Amino acid sequence: MPRPMQRSEDPEAAFHARIGAENLGALWVGRRGLDLTRPGTPARPAVWRFDDVRPRLMEAGALVSAENAFRRVLVLQNPGFGGAMRATQTLYAGIQLVLPGEIAPCHRHSQTAIRFVIEGSGALTTVDGAATAMRPGDMVVTPQWTWHDHRNEGGEPAIWLDILDTPLIDALDTVFRETHRETLQPLTRAEGDMRPAFNRRAASARDALDRLARETRPDPCLGWRHRCDDPGPTMAAFLQRLPRGFDGAPRRASDGAVYCVVEGAGATETGDGTLEWAARDVFVVPGWCRHRHLADNGAVLFSVSDLALQERLGLWREQRWEGGES
Ligand SMILES: [Fe+2]
Repeated sequence: MPRPMQRSEDPEAAFHARIGAENLGALWVGRRGLDLTRPGTPARPAVWRFDDVRPRLMEAGALVSAENAFRRVLVLQNPGFGGAMRATQTLYAGIQLVLPGEIAPCHRHSQTAIRFVIEGSGALTTVDGAATAMRPGDMVVTPQWTWHDHRNEGGEPAIWLDILDTPLIDALDTVFRETHRETLQPLTRAEGDMRPAFNRRAASARDALDRLARETRPDPCLGWRHRCDDPGPTMAAFLQRLPRGFDGAPRRASDGAVYCVVEGAGATETGDGTLEWAARDVFVVPGWCRHRHLADNGAVLFSVSDLALQERLGLWREQRWEGGES
């Protein structure tokens, strides 16, 4: 039976309602009011101070064991994502605690993970049968789909920053995960057999950074920045030194980054507030967010972004404001 004609009905609204029911939508309506000239990530600049997070982590340690939690991690939830487990548009970040004698059981997944060790020297990560000690400043990589477990054989809490490409792998609908039949996988290889090395020791990254600082002038926006070997196909990792008195020029880049302060203190100014940070704090600068770093007494920063993937896709962009405002 034909629908009775309603003279008051807006023919365009009626059209949209009708096609909506047919799983169709009008592009010119969906785009209305959107600024499509630049990325519009909901991610916001944010900082998590280690001195605030650590007591919460210890509370978690009293509530649940690492084995029962599977991974006892406090997720760094960027306030722009309304409680979702993401630090940037494409990266997940969390602070993990493994207490003395504890085990984080063996599993594997399609995400790549980077651990940056913040506290404690007694933990070991095993990746595909090879174990490595985790010491402060080390960057330990678990490549996608490699078996990995963590254990703490020392006498002090082991705490590290986990950064994974989870939101990205989620967006591709390629999340796979498997639990090992044993809590700890058997050790079958020496650490040195792993190529490329899955633990980038703090000392070797610092050597590379120091060499850069000796041989080159500091970049006006970045200070000295050493790019570590890419930890996988999606992410890039950096160790960066801001020299004493650094008053950085503004910059923005399409890769949003998660930073961990290795030493020193400073601030990062953005159009959305100033992040003040000190050693062991974690902060986020979203993609395409204009910002500049300041460090009166110098600082060393570790950071991770999805630059490796953006480069592969030919999408990466950067804008700098060197030599004054414009
Ligand atoms: Fe994992």
